[in-house]
Amino acid sequence: MNLPAKVGVYGGGRMGAGIAHAFLVSGASVTVVEADEAAAAAAADRIGASLAKAAERGKTAESVAELTARLDVATDAAALAGCGLVVEAVPESAELKAAVLAQVETSAPDAVLATNTSSLSIDGLAKSLARPEKFLGLHFFNPVPASSLVEIVVGSATPDALAAEARGWAEALGKASITVADSPGFASSRLGVALALEAMRMLEAGVASAEDIDAAMTSGYRHPTGPLRTTDIVGLDVRLAIAEHLAREVGERFAPPEILRAKVAAGQLGRKSGQGFYRW
Ligand SMILES: NC(=O)c1ccc[n+]([C@@H]2O[C@H](COP(=O)([O-])OP(=O)(O)OC[C@H]3O[C@@H](n4cnc5c(N)ncnc54)[C@H](O)[C@@H]3O)[C@@H](O)[C@H]2O)c1
Repeated sequence: MNLPAKVGVYGGGRMGAGIAHAFLVSGASVTVVEADEAAAAAAADRIGASLAKAAERGKTAESVAELTARLDVATDAAALAGCGLVVEAVPESAELKAAVLAQVETSAPDAVLATNTSSLSIDGLAKSLARPEKFLGLHFFNPVPASSLVEIVVGSATPDALAAEARGWAEALGKASITVADSPGFASSRLGVALALEAMRMLEAGVASAEDIDAAMTSGYRHPTGPLRTTDIVGLDVRLAIAEHLAREVGERFAPPEILRAKVAAGQLGRKSGQGFYRW
């Protein structure tokens, strides 16, 4: 194992719990920091349930009891002392993340700091740090235990050696990695959203039905899921926010089509609301 022996995860929500799971089953000890006692208990439950499901399916070499023996859930960042790596996974707010990262830097002075942000600039977040050369993006995908990619996002102060070390960690987690410069939408969101927006414009223009546009990619190009169905699964509101961000930062070609705005305004958010480009 070339993972740090002790890994911290700041924020044990949907992504943080999955990240903790991934490091535990790969042999690391994990300390999760949550906002308060209730959130800490919820995070411990989430991780326990996720490990139990994996164990039931025969996907863990160790028992749940052995895995959770290496898990600590705390409410004080001081518990992160001694971590070789801390992954921040609190909600997507630049102010909150900057405050959390600065706190982690004090509590775990020797740790590499990573953020799981899906859209914020690594260089922007690095401004709150005394040691930006120990900071990078580790963008995990949802659900983390089943996903096969980590997007490594390199800021202007991130040394090549740290990116190389992170590629080793991804490999130790059993995941492929790609290395991307700090840029809006990184590689995954930028390409995924570009395809989805064009599919929406085609639907709007009456080029074909949603099913047929998706089939062009699933049957024609062997994508596992079509761009419109993927948008339903991700959430139309989530994709609208990313498109607006990319339109501002990259260019007008990411301007959200009217059909996307109208569906979000009508509460048609995709799978979670029962209706998006498909009925669920
Ligand atoms: N959900 C996804 O599909 C996805 C995919 C990739 C990346 N991300 C990114 O991962 C990050 C987390 O997203 P999520 O979906 O897990 O959110 P979430 O709301 O499920 O989890 C956030 C967790 O952070 C905790 N938290 C909030 N403030 C805190 C504080 N001050 N100290 C400690 N803990 C605190 C919350 O209690 C919660 O458990 C975001 O940056 C998001 O953009 C999400």
